[in-house]
Amino acid sequence: MDRKAIINQLNEILKHEWTGVAQYSQASFIIEGVWRQVYADHFLGDAKESFKHAQLVGEKIVALGGVPVATRNEIKQSRDLKEVLEFSLAFEAKAVEMYNQALDLAEGDRALVIFLEDILKEEQDGVDEYTKLLRDTPASGAAATSDSKAS
Ligand SMILES: [Fe+2]
Repeated sequence: MDRKAIINQLNEILKHEWTGVAQYSQASFIIEGVWRQVYADHFLGDAKESFKHAQLVGEKIVALGGVPVATRNEIKQSRDLKEVLEFSLAFEAKAVEMYNQALDLAEGDRALVIFLEDILKEEQDGVDEYTKLLRDTPASGAAATSDSKAS
């Protein structure tokens, strides 16, 4: 395992998680109207998940002998809920990609592989959740009805 390469990749991930803390917090702060009732807490929960991952990854970088970054990337924000959900899906998909890249570098270190896999699973859950949230409900309902007719 190339220790320097894995530390660099974990720092890219850490930057992404810090971006998530800010991006999801901002989404939670600015949402207004009736959907605030549902999504303010939802986005805050995702901000907390990003913070939890940042904490785990930061601790791991130090354990490996590296120095954790304290910077983040630009956040994406919008007052259009659908757009925010699309940003969120893209954010989670990018996280899946980054943890997969880290897993390739961690080959041979079983404990590190498990550590990364545990987080990867939660990132994939995020992709699955936002994918479902972005599905058009009436159209899916119609599809389900025609499916049940067909069977
Ligand atoms: Fe994360």
